[in-house]
Formats: sequence, structure tokens, C-alpha cells
Amino acid sequence: MDLNLNGKTAIVVASSQGLGKAIATQLVKEGTNVMLASRNEEKLKGVQVELSALNKGRVSYHQTDITKKEEIEALIKHTVDTFGAIDILVNNSGGPPAGTFEQLDDEEWQNAFELNLLSYIRMIRNTVPHMKETGGKIINIASVSIKEPIPGLILSNTFRLGIVGLSKTLADELAPHNILINTVAPGRIATDRVAHLDQVNAEKLGKPIEEIEHMFKEKIPLKRYGTPEEFATFVTFLVSDANTYMTGQAYILDGGMVKAI
Ligand SMILES: NC(=O)c1ccc[n+]([C@@H]2O[C@H](COP(=O)([O-])OP(=O)(O)OC[C@H]3O[C@@H](n4cnc5c(N)ncnc54)[C@H](OP(=O)(O)O)[C@@H]3O)[C@@H](O)[C@H]2O)c1
Repeated sequence: MDLNLNGKTAIVVASSQGLGKAIATQLVKEGTNVMLASRNEEKLKGVQVELSALNKGRVSYHQTDITKKEEIEALIKHTVDTFGAIDILVNNSGGPPAGTFEQLDDEEWQNAFELNLLSYIRMIRNTVPHMKETGGKIINIASVSIKEPIPGLILSNTFRLGIVGLSKTLADELAPHNILINTVAPGRIATDRVAHLDQVNAEKLGKPIEEIEHMFKEKIPLKRYGTPEEFATFVTFLVSDANTYMTGQAYILDGGMVKAI
């Protein structure tokens, strides 16, 4: 299978660690030029050094807070100035805070909207003009909460579904330009965020973290957490030339955890 990613350009948002970093790594291994973006410059620099050492695709970074409109515009400009094109956009972000409806105020709702939905909208709005001539691929990272609401995560349950509606609508509107757009939803993939959430649960319940992990793994038919590399492999397929007909869909990678059909 020819992925034909060599020499293409991708922006991978929220790529200083976790899923974003894993996707950036996989793309660079395929020869894609990758623009990394997140807030922590030290971490970005570290990832740039690590991925440049692979001697495959070129790697650059731009310090960006994706809740800020001007910083998104600067990221897009920096990418075009550096690599001359944008073929692939991977939208990603930090997760919203936990909380039930009664625990969250307007400010927390507004922040989650800006981080988890508006940032994706702005990234797409600013990227699409650079894809219209040549076509392109857009991936929006969401969560299994798009299929089955997660108790105590109402902000994720609400705004991640907005991503699905956005993607499906744009699949239609962008198809004439051969821009394919899909949502990919992780279940429990072993990143720092998941380790942190398990630690928080362990402290809350007064149990060892191993017990919390075991509890989650028992709910997953494959009996383990996914790896960031497994997640990145699927995203890499979707943004490659091997995918020419899948658009407007939401795919779940969760080892079979979600029970809904
Ligand atoms: N891992 C899973 O199993 C899982 C499951 C469901 C949903 N998700 C969702 O998938 C996304 C990625 O997950 P992950 O596990 O890789 O999370 P993670 O390890 O916490 O990484 C989050 C990334 O987001 C960046 N970020 C946070 N706020 C940002 C901002 N305002 N502007 C730019 N970058 C920002 C962080 O970089 P800086 O600190 O450098 O800004 C970091 O690189 C999250 O939204 C998470 O909720 C993950």
C-alpha cells in the first residue's frame, strides 16, 4: 500500500506529548514535513529534536495557544512560510476539566467551547484556503464521549459531539475541493493524560492505581489500554493517499470498550 505521504506537509495541533506527538512521529517516519504546535515551547523543542533525528520528514514548531485567534493565524502563516503548503491538518487539544452540570459555571463552559470546539473551527477556517487547489485531509480528534456520554465529563460529552456535526457538514461542503474530513475518537489510550486521570481516581477512591487500571481494563474486550502508536497508525492511514473515499465519518478506537452500536 502506497501511503504517498513523503514530501507532504501536515500541521499536528497539541503535539508536544500524547496522541498528537504520536501522530506527528508516525507522519515524520513516512517522510511528511510536520509543523508541531502547542503552548509549551520547551516540550515542542524537545519533540522537534527527537523527530528531526529520524532523518525523514522535516520538523518545525510554532508555539501556539489554540484558544487564541491571532495565534492560530500566526501558526498557519508560519507553516506556509516554512513548508510552502498545507496538505494535512490534525486538530487536537487538551481535554476539558471534569465536572457535573451543577459544578460548572459559565466561564468553564466558555473555556471548554473555546478549547475543544472553536479552536477546531478556526484551524479549519484558516487552513482550507490553502487546501482548495490541491485537496487535503482533515482529522478531528474527539473522544468516545461522542458515542456514549462519560459520567462526570459533561463538557466533553457536549462539545465533542459538536465536532461530529461540524465534520459531517464539512465533508459535504469541502468535497468539491477534494478535502476529506473525519473524526477519530480515542477510548483509553495510554498517554500522560490517562495516567493522570487514573491517579486522580486512585486518590479519590483511596485505592492503588493498579486497581483503577485493572478496573478499566476489565471493561475493555481486548483487556488492555491502546498505545498512542496504534492510534497514530489509523490516523496516518486516514490522511494518506490510501484513503480516497472515507469522509464525514467518526471512527472509534477503544479496544471494543463502548457498548453502543
Ligand atoms: N488518551 C486517551 O485515551 C483519550 C481519550 C479520550 C479523549 N482524549 C482526548 O484526546 C486529546 C489528546 O489526548 P492526550 O491523551 O494526548 O492528552 P495529553 O497527553 O493531555 O496532551 C494534550 C496536548 O494538548 C496540548 N494543549 C493543551 N491545551 C492547549 C492549548 N490551549 N493550545 C495548544 N495546545 C494545547 C498540550 O500541550 P501544551 O501543554 O504544550 O500546550 C498537549 O500536547 C485530549 O483532548 C483528550 O481529552 C484522549
